[in-house]
Amino acid sequence: MQVVTTVQEMQAVARQAHDAGQTIGCVPTMGSLHAGHASLIRHAAATHPFVVTSIFVNPTQFGPTEDFDKYPRNLERDIETVSAAGGTHIFAPSVDEMYPPGFTTTIHLRGIANKFEGTFRPGHFDGVATVVAKLLLAMAPDEAFFGQKDYQQTLVVRRMVRDLGIPSSIVVLPTMREPDGLAMSSRNVYLSPEDRMEATIIYAALCDGMEMAMRGFNDREALNKIMRTRLESIGRLDIDYVAAALADSLEEPEEFQTGDEVVLLVAAKLGTTRLIDNVLVRVGG
Ligand code: PAF
Repeated sequence: MQVVTTVQEMQAVARQAHDAGQTIGCVPTMGSLHAGHASLIRHAAATHPFVVTSIFVNPTQFGPTEDFDKYPRNLERDIETVSAAGGTHIFAPSVDEMYPPGFTTTIHLRGIANKFEGTFRPGHFDGVATVVAKLLLAMAPDEAFFGQKDYQQTLVVRRMVRDLGIPSSIVVLPTMREPDGLAMSSRNVYLSPEDRMEATIIYAALCDGMEMAMRGFNDREALNKIMRTRLESIGRLDIDYVAAALADSLEEPEEFQTGDEVVLLVAAKLGTTRLIDNVLVRVGG
């Protein structure tokens, strides 16, 4: 396992791999790796001899009142996880390495980035798009693997890569869940035992919506209401949004058509922990 900490060295190591005829798979992360990340690394390792996981808690995607300082960090344990999952390299740059003094460039996407997470976390997707572009330029992957849990992020990254002509394919793999349905997330460690029990309501609400949409129920507001009703059965849940939208554009027509692929999205706080989750469903099954 080789740990690389500078952009220049990362680019050199990636170039050597390409020159030797190897393909590169990468998994961009903020560390504190869980089984969901390990699964992405295993998928990358199944098709690429060179598999690099980036570990970088990116300050520019956190708002001023968010959890950047307390975001869990554990490089030693992450190295073990990457190695056990079949990764060959870790790219773990410092903040100064990624944002040297005088750094002034920001990638801003219109449209798709300006609703849902974009509304509740202003500037978040500017930070994500900018850092992912930098990470892809450093790691030069043939394929970059992301989890579906951050659904809107995957749309933003795909669009940014297409618009800028970055020569990497984006692969999105399904969300990994705990046995009771809670989506795996590095932030789950913040949940108190009571929060952890109640957090399962989020996936339960998404399943309610999914079941109705599969049965052909296509009224968007009514789908939202079904999910919201289930979420509100937990008094302590502070809902940011609950929404049904077209999966490829995030547009919200009043009615969906049979056969439309729809994403159901929830973001809510339990205590001090903000959780997001989503499911994809085809209207009418
Ligand atoms: O999903 C994440 O962990 C982060 O948003 C990412 C893509 C690594 C960018 O910092």
